[in-house]
Amino acid sequence: MRKRLIYGVCLVAIVGLAGFSLYAWHPAIDPITPPSADQFPQEMIDQGEMLASAGYCSTCHTSPGGQPYAGNYEMHTGFGTIYSSNITPDPETGIGRWSEEAFIRAMRTGVSRDGHHLLPAFPYEHFNKMTDHDLKAIYAYIMTSVPAVDEEKKANGVPFPLNMRWLQAGWKLLFADTAPFEPDPQKSDQWNRGAYLAEGVAHCGACHTPRNAVGAEQYDQMYEGAAIDGWIAPSLTPSNPSPIPWRQQDFYTYLRTGNSMLHGSAAGPMAPVIHQGLAALPDRDIQAISLYLSHDEPSQVDRDEALDAEFHEALQSALTDQATIPDARINEGARLYATACSSCHYNGQHLVKGRPLLTIDSSTHLDAPTNLVNVILDGLRADQGISGVVMPGFRDALSDAEIAQIAAYLRHTAGESPWPNLQQQVTDVRQQPRFEH
Ligand code: HEC
Ligand code: HEC
Ligand code: HEC
Repeated sequence: MRKRLIYGVCLVAIVGLAGFSLYAWHPAIDPITPPSADQFPQEMIDQGEMLASAGYCSTCHTSPGGQPYAGNYEMHTGFGTIYSSNITPDPETGIGRWSEEAFIRAMRTGVSRDGHHLLPAFPYEHFNKMTDHDLKAIYAYIMTSVPAVDEEKKANGVPFPLNMRWLQAGWKLLFADTAPFEPDPQKSDQWNRGAYLAEGVAHCGACHTPRNAVGAEQYDQMYEGAAIDGWIAPSLTPSNPSPIPWRQQDFYTYLRTGNSMLHGSAAGPMAPVIHQGLAALPDRDIQAISLYLSHDEPSQVDRDEALDAEFHEALQSALTDQATIPDARINEGARLYATACSSCHYNGQHLVKGRPLLTIDSSTHLDAPTNLVNVILDGLRADQGISGVVMPGFRDALSDAEIAQIAAYLRHTAGESPWPNLQQQVTDVRQQPRFEH
């Protein structure tokens, strides 16, 4: 990984130097007198508020306990610690003196008003897919409705040489997706609306698409799953490991409510995506995103029967009788699971919302136990997964060895081969830095 990173940086540096004269230098755009609220129609401001929500601007631009949009939210990346900017309309420390033109340039090309390059931790490549109309609406909302806060951005902790902003010029030349959004004429308007939202403002790929050694999204593996903030954002394509394929309806209930009975609950970084972000969008937009992601085949009837078969198998294996498990450690896991977990989870009666069946959840089928262990350690708060429904965390109640035994048992009932070095993996997940979600 390190070696690849070094090669990558060299490559980016060479291209950066070559492209320097062409690409690296951007003029500053003159500061303006902050615009007054009556410059923008109310309808535009409302539209901007909805889009700012769907783009999780406040999630990334608000530090825990800090003022909304004042920045300094800390992001840990493979390239060091990055702090988000103050994007309140404060004239000195925020974007109060930014013209609409400067704002649109930043959102499309990742160049700040004064001309310096911004890091791709700011997902401008996705925001670039938005129409001018929608970007202007966000500008109108921020300028008129977000309270100005005087707060300096902290310096990023990106080590030399990666901290040289002009390196970004090479990076952009090599990797940045600068193409505007193009609707697919073969697809319906609803599908294209979903594509526009998912690839643009809601930037699903920023977390779900794997990145290369220098942090660029690999578009040939779009939505194939990636590690993010100590979690795994699973694949959203048919390579998703869940035994039950995701249909449009499953995406819809998951994205609308934070839980799908056939696929479990949204925890970690996915919880704010649903409850702070997508929540602002109307049902028809969530349906559009779901249609765009689904690979529903025409013959729905056959699919439903196949699904039934998979589902009944999963229900059966969830009830694996402890006595039939020869491996002592897995057997111990079954005992711990019965003591600590099973009273709240699927118990062989009916599958109901709020009592997840873990054998069909992707967390028991992914190549790494990360997501499963995260949930066992920290549970789910009321604002994660199903709104108002809580799962307690077991960070202080269970040892790494016990969590590993429970995870081994769940993996067994999911019909997958054992995770290697499981206890060490539990220890690693427990010790990783904890993110505020
Ligand atoms: C995944 C996190 C993330 C999201 C989501 C995000 N931003 Fe940012 N944004 C950042 C980071 C980090 C920076 C600073 C990058 C740097 O230091 O180079 C930034 C910088 C900016 C800047 C440049 C500010 C300056 O002073 O140069 C603007 C403008 C901006 N973001 C607007 C937005 C808007 C509007 C949204 C929502 C539509 C948004 N951002 C969503 C992380 C994010
Ligand atoms: C900030 C990073 C991030 C963004 C942005 C994001 N996701 Fe996720 N997503 C995750 C993580 C992490 C998980 C795993 C959560 C869990 O296991 O509870 C996840 C889980 C999911 C799942 C469930 C997958 C499974 O197998 O259980 C779906 C579906 C999903 N995301 C869709 C989307 C869509 C659609 C978007 C864009 C609208 C999106 N995500 C944006 C990080 C993100
Ligand atoms: C007090 C009840 C309760 C206990 C005890 C409990 N859970 Fe949960 N668990 C829940 C609920 C409720 C949810 C769904 C929460 C939501 O969506 O808001 C959940 C969700 C989960 C998830 C996320 C699953 C998914 O659907 O994505 C996992 C994994 C999980 N539990 C594992 C466990 C394990 C392992 C134990 C034992 C160590 C356990 N739980 C103990 C109630 C409980």
